[in-house]
Amino acid sequence: MNNFQFHNPTRIVFGEGTISRIGELTAHYGKSILLVYGGGSIKSTGLYDLVRKQLSASNVTVHELAGIEPNPRLTTVNKGIDICRTQGIEFILAVGGGSVIDAAKAIAAGALYDGDVWDFFTGKASIKQALPIGTVLTLAATGSEMNGNTVISHWEEKLKRGAGSSHLFPTFSILDPELTYTVPRNHTVYGSVDIMSHVFEQYFSLTENTPLQERFCESILQTVIENIEPALVNPNDKAARANLMWCGTMALNGGQISLGMVNDWASHGIEHEVSAIYDIPHGAGLAVIFPNWMKYVYKERVDRFAQYATRVWGIDAAGKTEDELALAGIEATRDFFTRIGAESTLADFGIGEEQLDRMAEEAVRYSAIGSFKTLEKNDVLEILRMSL
Ligand code: NZQ
Ligand code: ZN
Repeated sequence: MNNFQFHNPTRIVFGEGTISRIGELTAHYGKSILLVYGGGSIKSTGLYDLVRKQLSASNVTVHELAGIEPNPRLTTVNKGIDICRTQGIEFILAVGGGSVIDAAKAIAAGALYDGDVWDFFTGKASIKQALPIGTVLTLAATGSEMNGNTVISHWEEKLKRGAGSSHLFPTFSILDPELTYTVPRNHTVYGSVDIMSHVFEQYFSLTENTPLQERFCESILQTVIENIEPALVNPNDKAARANLMWCGTMALNGGQISLGMVNDWASHGIEHEVSAIYDIPHGAGLAVIFPNWMKYVYKERVDRFAQYATRVWGIDAAGKTEDELALAGIEATRDFFTRIGAESTLADFGIGEEQLDRMAEEAVRYSAIGSFKTLEKNDVLEILRMSL
């Protein structure tokens, strides 16, 4: 285990009915706020009316930015920055999934920056300050509700890039599992794949002596596996939705489950190149890429993959070599993703070979990626080819 520091400032307000605290929590941070939301789900579910009512009861003046896209776009972020600057916004409230929260974070940083907010995503500048934000999470997936990351798409240039800063951690996040009952089946699936993928990025590590971290990871994976099918059978399953929501937050909240470990993140890097060009849901891309990444890299540390097979999937080690066990665990992952309804090939999205080279090139634009196995352009290209 390596040395580490950990500080996570986000206040989590978790549970049924906690949405009723939105007015009070928001008013604590600002009287003039920007309410950021997506393409309309919060209006059809009634959440919008509920939030507006609470805010008005707390005497908060609300400006709005609606229409944040899944895979949120820079052009929309810039609209939000304009509103913040012209309206004297003190606080940003994001109500939605990861895309809405990520857009809110980019707006929060951009509003207090003199240059182009995209500078933060190309590495040209680092985030030194940001407006405070709060979130109401409506989809269990990214962990954005308790971390300092944001991922934005530059649609015209077909680029999707992330930025991170301690200034981007939300001040509070309301996690009311009931708000996720209306998440469509496919996004419930993609969200769970994303949660599991966040764990994989941390669990498949070369760092030695990390038994507690490994068990944190395994417990989240098992909890997602146990709860996703009940949530698909009955979208209003309170326990399943609550467990998935908490798994999502714990899987990527500033690295709590993998403190002292070197993380990988290559599969995320590759997926971001796919969704940058084809605008597919992030979790859907991961369901295709991750099992192929596993097959490509597992020999770097067969013992960790064998442990994954036995501890997470309960595969019997008797009569199997470590290598066979590792491959059985990877197969179980692929089968599970398929069983819950995720796509298994890029062809399922109509994606062919045309842009593979560009995606591989962009994935390693700044440097080789990954740490479990360092991937150069040719490695990325091979994983993409395996995913066709
Ligand atoms: O736009 P609306 O109408 O709200 O509909 C959304 C959207 O169409 C819908 N939805 C959300 N909550 C709902 C709901 N529909 C009905 N009822 C509800 N309660 O679901 C669709 C997908 O939403 P989105 O926010 O795009 O999904 P997700 O939370 O998976 O976020 C994906 C984005 O986050 C980035 C991804 O790359 C992608 O851009 N990521 C952010 C990370 C972070 N900040 O730490 C890490 C991740 O690895 C990831 O890269
Ligand atoms: Zn992810």
